[in-house]
Amino acid sequence: MTTVRVLASDTVSIETGALVVGIHASSDGPQVAPGADDLDQALGGTLAAALGAVGFTGKPEEIAKIPTLGALPAPLVLAVGLGERPDDGYDPETLRRASGAAARALAGTASAALALPASTADEAEAVALGALLGAYEFSRYRTGERKEPVGELTVLSAADGADAAVERASTVAEAVSLVRDLVNMPPSDLWPAKFADIAEDAGTKAGLTVEVLDETALKEAGYGGISGVGQGSVNPPRLVRLAYGHPDASRTLAFVGKGITFDSGGLSLKPANSMDWMKSDMGGAGAVLGALITIARLGLPVNAVGYLCLAENMPSGTAMRPSDVLHTFSGKTVEVLNTDAEGRLVLVDGIARAAQDSPDLIVDVATLTGAQIVALGWRTSGVMANDDAIREEVVEVAVSQGEAAWGMPLPDELRKGLDSPVADIANLNPDRWGAMLAAGIFLREFVPDGVRWAHIDMAGPAFNKAEPYGYTPKGGTGAITRTLVALAERYAADGGRAAD
Ligand code: BES
Ligand code: MN
Ligand code: ZN
Repeated sequence: MTTVRVLASDTVSIETGALVVGIHASSDGPQVAPGADDLDQALGGTLAAALGAVGFTGKPEEIAKIPTLGALPAPLVLAVGLGERPDDGYDPETLRRASGAAARALAGTASAALALPASTADEAEAVALGALLGAYEFSRYRTGERKEPVGELTVLSAADGADAAVERASTVAEAVSLVRDLVNMPPSDLWPAKFADIAEDAGTKAGLTVEVLDETALKEAGYGGISGVGQGSVNPPRLVRLAYGHPDASRTLAFVGKGITFDSGGLSLKPANSMDWMKSDMGGAGAVLGALITIARLGLPVNAVGYLCLAENMPSGTAMRPSDVLHTFSGKTVEVLNTDAEGRLVLVDGIARAAQDSPDLIVDVATLTGAQIVALGWRTSGVMANDDAIREEVVEVAVSQGEAAWGMPLPDELRKGLDSPVADIANLNPDRWGAMLAAGIFLREFVPDGVRWAHIDMAGPAFNKAEPYGYTPKGGTGAITRTLVALAERYAADGGRAAD
């Protein structure tokens, strides 16, 4: 396990396995960033020139390891690129990514001190968070030699409030790591009831009130969407409600997460190469769980409820069929034209239930459509809403956390494509164009009038199929967890847009 602490120490005397220093790129070659001046002096002021001599430029996330050859107690200096030096303060994401890249490069090292720019509490937090997230490893299924993440991290900072800021980083990183673990777990070890147990355990420990509806309770209460999607699997569905309250809160946020522990497509079966990573189809529920745990542990003055809509989408003799009609919790009926459009079916039950909590805002989070990846690529989530100001607020908050997001429209003319000849609405638009937006339009139909709602489609960002970068590992990313926490912080601080 990786741990983190703050120390207001010089960099020269500290006993540690490695010293991490930031390097800026400039037209005069690499330059040592603030935080490592005394270390550079101890090395005779030669660090930048030595790095330049081996072709190091200081571009973002570039890494070089330099032995200190006895000049310092630390045996190793790890240089990480920060790009050009900013004129007016560091973008926290630059620090998080550099720190994360450094932590990844330090796997196997017992301890490291981070002498990166950390002259403010926010910078110290970014350095700590990036390193903790970058150090993440998922090795529990390996039986041979395991790659151990870097052990004890020390953030070198004398900033006021650095201790509390780094403590926050550590709380957030713990939750994001839990979300990544859940996404990475094979579906043979994470089915709906197991996910509900984990949520109940972790949620209760964090001080949340947790309620779980099993398949019988779901049917009785009329959750036809979740029940329908789950009925084809031997692992029955669950709906988990997580609640957090604060006596000073004036606002209530509701988060709803898509939690398909495996999406085979159901009878509308996916092709093999689209299916092999569908264990990640519960990333939205993971983010909601991680956010609720973090909000409780930080004690934010806001009320928050989270719904995890958990089901396994499988083909079988009991599975829902294309052309089946489901009676959803909202009272509306849905014709299932394609059983692979299952996420929206579980979500609308969660959204309709969440509306009963009279929230100021509902945000649903889902790995909902392949079309999100077509439109925005692997790293940028699509944000839709029934209110333009809310949509822009969610985008702004996500981007402030380094979670790329882009506002998307919900064009009314797409609603017609969801008309069903037999039910109130169909779950699929036969016209494949604009499929991310059509999914958003489907969800919007289930948001009661007067309720503010935003939808985050993070099909791509939830799972990194490519190589690691910055603080993002391969596999489960924990995406949008931090966005939800930051939204809660905003609603705690100034009431957010819903206060307008
Ligand atoms: N879970 C998938 C969406 C998805 C695709 C997530 C790729 C992550 C990566 C979702 O349930 C799905 O299958 N969507 C279909 C909907 C279609 C049948 C209308 C899609 O996007 O193809
Ligand atoms: Mn699907
Ligand atoms: Zn799905």
